[in-house]
Amino acid sequence: MIIAIDGPAGVGKSTVAKLLAARLGYLYLDTGALYRAVAWKVLQSKVQPTDHAQVAGLLQTTSVQMQFHNSAMQVLVDHRDITSELRTPDVTSAASIVSAIPEVREWLLPIQRQIGQRGSVVAEGRDVGTKVFPTAPLKFFLEADATVRAERRHRELVAAGHGGPIETTYQDLSGRDKRDQSRPIAPLTPAADARPIDTSTLTVEQVVEQMMAAVSAAS
Ligand code: DC
Repeated sequence: MIIAIDGPAGVGKSTVAKLLAARLGYLYLDTGALYRAVAWKVLQSKVQPTDHAQVAGLLQTTSVQMQFHNSAMQVLVDHRDITSELRTPDVTSAASIVSAIPEVREWLLPIQRQIGQRGSVVAEGRDVGTKVFPTAPLKFFLEADATVRAERRHRELVAAGHGGPIETTYQDLSGRDKRDQSRPIAPLTPAADARPIDTSTLTVEQVVEQMMAAVSAAS
């Protein structure tokens, strides 16, 4: 069973997906972490994230692996554990840019599907329901008001020690939304068979409860 969870930035995807996976005893596949890993390598190599050819070329000499230890996940780039470096603002911004490069998406596809093959996976990310796991039996598309999403993301950043003004978070988020929705490759759109959940006024617990009910009904 693969459960696919998509939706825009700051909607609470990761929190909800992690919790749902823990409840069900499933693996949590954070696909965004893989795009962030590529972005990390790009920045580390002093390549411009916008330089498609160079980014694509860099992939030839890059290895990205995800390891799972109970519920904890580690991301290795070229066999080095860079998990703690994936959520800086620089990596976040570069990940949004490199994720629009077709070669990057194609390169990450088999890595994601291989993890999916283990079964019992909650996969979270922009195109997991439409492209990576199109036949997943259960798909959710989370939505929330942009201001609510900016507030949530800002709280996360502050907690991680990267907090700036909330206006900056709002603008970053709007910019990413626009880029993610308008890009020709894998734009942010719900799969036709995805169940929408508006999380604006729901607690994390309420969202997970709705999902658990759908899982019970489907199995
Ligand atoms: O979910 P996140 O913020 O960790 O994702 C980082 C970036 O990667 C984000 O800009 C969207 C992109 N991404 C993507 O294009 N496809 C995915 N399946 C996951 C993330």
